[in-house]
Amino acid sequence: MAEEKGHLGVVHLLPADVEALMRRLERHKFERLEKDSETYKIMAGVFDSSTLLTLYHMIHQGVFDIFYGVVSGGKESNIFCARDKRGNYVAAKIYRIATSDFRTMYRYIVGDPRFKGITKERRRIIYAWASREFKNLQRAFDAGVAVPRPIRHERNVLAMEFLGEQGVPYPRMKDSPPEKPKETFEKLLNAVGRLYREARLVHSDLSEYNVMLTPEPVLIDFSMGTDIANPMADELLLRDLSNLVRYFRKLGVKTKEPAELFSAIKEER
Ligand SMILES: Nc1ncnc2c1ncn2[C@@H]1O[C@H](COP(=O)(O)OP(=O)(O)OP(=O)(O)O)[C@@H](O)[C@H]1O
Ligand SMILES: [Mg+2]
Repeated sequence: MAEEKGHLGVVHLLPADVEALMRRLERHKFERLEKDSETYKIMAGVFDSSTLLTLYHMIHQGVFDIFYGVVSGGKESNIFCARDKRGNYVAAKIYRIATSDFRTMYRYIVGDPRFKGITKERRRIIYAWASREFKNLQRAFDAGVAVPRPIRHERNVLAMEFLGEQGVPYPRMKDSPPEKPKETFEKLLNAVGRLYREARLVHSDLSEYNVMLTPEPVLIDFSMGTDIANPMADELLLRDLSNLVRYFRKLGVKTKEPAELFSAIKEER
């Protein structure tokens, strides 16, 4: 396995590596890999054998060709920077099977009419979660909302446009406040409104953590995004708007109250 510390402090994972790993996994237990290696830590958390199989399949389809390693490691997922067969950068979001909090996921997905009747089984919920993020991105993208272009989804793995330059991701709004906060706030309000009216979605986890600045604001992390028919949709929309208002008021932007912004979005329907 070619290991290299680059700007992302990462591991290069080539198709041959994945194949070798697959063979290795068949023969040995995962624990036999060197425990202190970066590779091990990432893979132990993310790449269980079914995920490897999924990656293997997607690599053979040309969705991914080379992995440059982790851009972000959250509670439920890891984001990897990769390139496709043609050399374009793509982001791979890989949901963890073993450590994801699928009970909370279940609570948030069960009210979405698109996933009616989903059973409370870990693997199924996590696959549904990734599938929901993909469908949401598609709906948002088709409605002209600024989101990363969705590319492919398979089981717990999602491929989307990489937001960054030369493999370095653009900053999150949380880490790098916008230069023109008022304009950015208005663009985000427009995006939330368009998302509601045209894509019939509520993001449901909107905050400075889930906006990237290219420097134009782009909404990311749609796994919580829900259909407006969800009985929780209004509450979630109000929460999204309250988060934006809180953040932008801190930057000195004069804004309406979240409830007023909420009514405006609902009335424009
Ligand atoms: N398409 C993308 N291109 C480049 N970087 C991305 C992309 N999507 C996400 N990222 C980076 O990865 C980080 C985490 O992504 P995201 O918010 O989708 O995961 P997360 O669901 O918050 O993780 P968790 O819930 O597991 O904590 C983002 O804050 C951003 O820095
Ligand atoms: Mg996030």
